[in-house]
Amino acid sequence: MTRHSAGHLTTAAGAIAVLLSACGGSEPGLARGKLIYDACAPCHGEDGAGREELAAPAIAGASDWYLKAQLLKFQGGARGYHHTDLEGLRMRPMSRALFADRGDIESVVEYIVSLPIPDPPPTIEGGDLEAGEAEYLALCANCHGRDGRGVETGVRELDAPSLLHLNDWYLESSIAKYRDGARGVGDAAGTTMRAPVADFTAERISNVTAYVMSLQRLPRKVAAPPPPPLDPVDVDPAILPEGVTLAMAQAGQEIFNGAKGICFTCHLREGTGGPLAPSLTDAEWLNIDGEYESIVKIVVAGVPQPTQYPGVMQPRAGRPLTDEQVRAVAAYVYTLSR
Ligand code: HEC
Ligand code: HEC
Ligand code: HEC
Repeated sequence: MTRHSAGHLTTAAGAIAVLLSACGGSEPGLARGKLIYDACAPCHGEDGAGREELAAPAIAGASDWYLKAQLLKFQGGARGYHHTDLEGLRMRPMSRALFADRGDIESVVEYIVSLPIPDPPPTIEGGDLEAGEAEYLALCANCHGRDGRGVETGVRELDAPSLLHLNDWYLESSIAKYRDGARGVGDAAGTTMRAPVADFTAERISNVTAYVMSLQRLPRKVAAPPPPPLDPVDVDPAILPEGVTLAMAQAGQEIFNGAKGICFTCHLREGTGGPLAPSLTDAEWLNIDGEYESIVKIVVAGVPQPTQYPGVMQPRAGRPLTDEQVRAVAAYVYTLSR
């Protein structure tokens, strides 16, 4: 991507600095956000719909929490850190001109989400829609939602953003960056995202992108149906190991199938298993003997090098689970195959 000159970068970062010092006195909020956005518009467009020739994506269709998180990642070096990520490297200095103590990020994000939602037209031909749909439903829908609108778990750093209203060229380059470690290394959300695309070829990227672009044309604001209620934990308390109670398993069920533990994002609801992680309902174990203590141990340690599945499991699934919560979720897992 040599078509974007480094000179542009320096000028734009300088422009932001000048602009922000000029509006230094104004209150955080929409008006200030609009002023700040004047410095973003040359690349992302007045309407926030992106400019392909600058490789700057549409941002006006994103959620406020996602925009904030990404701006903070650029600022802190968790994004735009890799020497091959020319676009991220270009965006990073822009984020650095925004100041926390002046509420700059909140203000500009408030302005961006006030813009009309863009529908960037497809620019890339090809991509097998059917293959892309199969791929999407198996590997992406779990986190980004069947409709691509993203899923908010209530735990910000692990929420999966909407994939709609983005440019196809940006979707493709982003997936490739996660795959290649040019994006997402070293932060929880990014690491979660890297696993499903770890072995993606260019063809698979193009198929799944074509499918995501097709989702954009579905009618707006169709609420996803709520998930069916969980089956009650139904085991004979007599089979539970010493120190493990039915109440623990019940508490563990909530952790496993909800935002607290996010286990379901890879092992699917009720641990039935999916493309990213094995079933926990059969008595076949890959890494452990399946006894209660071995389950506790693997939840604490995670699985940095899975034997068969691509979805690297972080210690405690990357969640702030207490020892008590780990023991509860392990109790639930214990009951699944018994
Ligand atoms: C010099 C051009 C340029 C300017 C000015 C610029 N950006 Fe960017 N921005 C980019 C590029 C290029 C990317 C794509 C990075 C990538 O591909 O990973 C990007 C990405 C982003 C993203 C990530 C979008 C996503 O879907 O993850 C956000 C958010 C963003 N910019 C916000 C802003 C804001 C807010 C401003 C103004 C303060 C701004 N940008 C100014 C070039 C620019
Ligand atoms: C286990 C959950 C999970 C799965 C499965 C998953 N994602 Fe993600 N995805 C995320 C999270 C979390 C983020 C935000 C990461 C970050 O902050 O960099 C993300 C971000 C993205 C982005 C960046 C969006 C933007 O605006 O820059 C794209 C594109 C994406 N995912 C595509 C996919 C595709 C395609 C698949 C299936 C092949 C997939 N994801 C599967 C959790 C997931
Ligand atoms: C990001 C995906 C992911 C998440 C989230 C996740 N796991 Fe896993 N889990 C895996 C993978 C991958 C393996 C290892 C599979 C392999 O070896 O190929 C695994 C293995 C396991 C095993 C051992 C299975 C065996 O056969 O050896 C248990 C038990 C387990 N996970 C429980 C949990 C619990 C409980 C949670 C939530 C606190 C959780 N996992 C969250 C991906 C995940």
